[in-house]
Amino acid sequence: MSVKKATAVAPANIAFIKYWGRKDDKLRLPANNSLSMNMSGIETTTTVEFGESEQDTVIIDGHLVKGQEQERVISFIDRVRQEVGVTEPVRVQSKNSFPRSAGLASSASGFAALALATTAALHQELTEQELSSLARLGSGSACRSIPDGFVEWVAGDSHESSYAYSLYPPSYWDIVDVIALTDYSPKDVGSTTGHVAAQESPFYQVRLDHVEDHLKLAKRAFAAKDFPALGEVIEKDSLSMHAVMMTSNPHLYYWNGVTLNILKSLQQWRADNLLAYATIDAGPNVHVICQQQDQDEVIRGLKNIDGVKDVMIATPSLGAHLK
Ligand code: PMV
Repeated sequence: MSVKKATAVAPANIAFIKYWGRKDDKLRLPANNSLSMNMSGIETTTTVEFGESEQDTVIIDGHLVKGQEQERVISFIDRVRQEVGVTEPVRVQSKNSFPRSAGLASSASGFAALALATTAALHQELTEQELSSLARLGSGSACRSIPDGFVEWVAGDSHESSYAYSLYPPSYWDIVDVIALTDYSPKDVGSTTGHVAAQESPFYQVRLDHVEDHLKLAKRAFAAKDFPALGEVIEKDSLSMHAVMMTSNPHLYYWNGVTLNILKSLQQWRADNLLAYATIDAGPNVHVICQQQDQDEVIRGLKNIDGVKDVMIATPSLGAHLK
């Protein structure tokens, strides 16, 4: 009998052009394409093993997980288990290298690592595209943590046609994400609820009308390695997503006062020729995107802002891989 066990590592990713709102909730098909960078050192390592425990067990960061969180993991694994015809209980052990649920996309790295570890443990051989689609069913943005480096998620209109692929390898551009942590507590409203609430915003359609242009501008900036052009569209796209969040039903305010102070500081820094741009996910932390040459100045500046609790650095990284 062959061993059914595998360990995978997957990075979190930060979206430069965001995904917020879906055209199919069950399949997690997004309303628009999105673009992201995998983040070095901000990752989840997951071991999946079948047949070695009495019942399905999920352990995350040393804690036995129960309720909805456990169900989400197990129903994801059930889909693979059914496809392969395996009924043995599973044991999942997962470890994050960063605070969970603080807007650092633990669900993206988590489900990307889970997709790879589960299929590898069951000796399934999936293409990168198939693995990306599978990860998407766990958490939409998890599909972007499968391919390497800078990634585009094609929205698609079916399970198979909605997947992410690598636009450029990590070495293509020495972009740095300097993350200003302003709060460690878990967010009140998760993205699963947020994607549905978004559609109630009068600005939802307005954002969708603009997002194609944002994608085009970002891709053009990538091809030309035009950093100011990229930075501007990154910040603009994130603000347009937050305008939708704040005007959805319920109103979702993911920022705190420090978040806003950082945004204002960046305006001043750019006026003083320091090229740094913000993008913010469903949480109060600010991802400050800059080039490596400006990293130290950006770190110093962020540490001087009242309320910034810590600063983390991420550079472009590979996608999910087996350990
Ligand atoms: O994959 P989800 O459901 O956690 O949604 C991610 C949403 C944002 O992080 C806010 C934006 C994005 O594209 O990553």
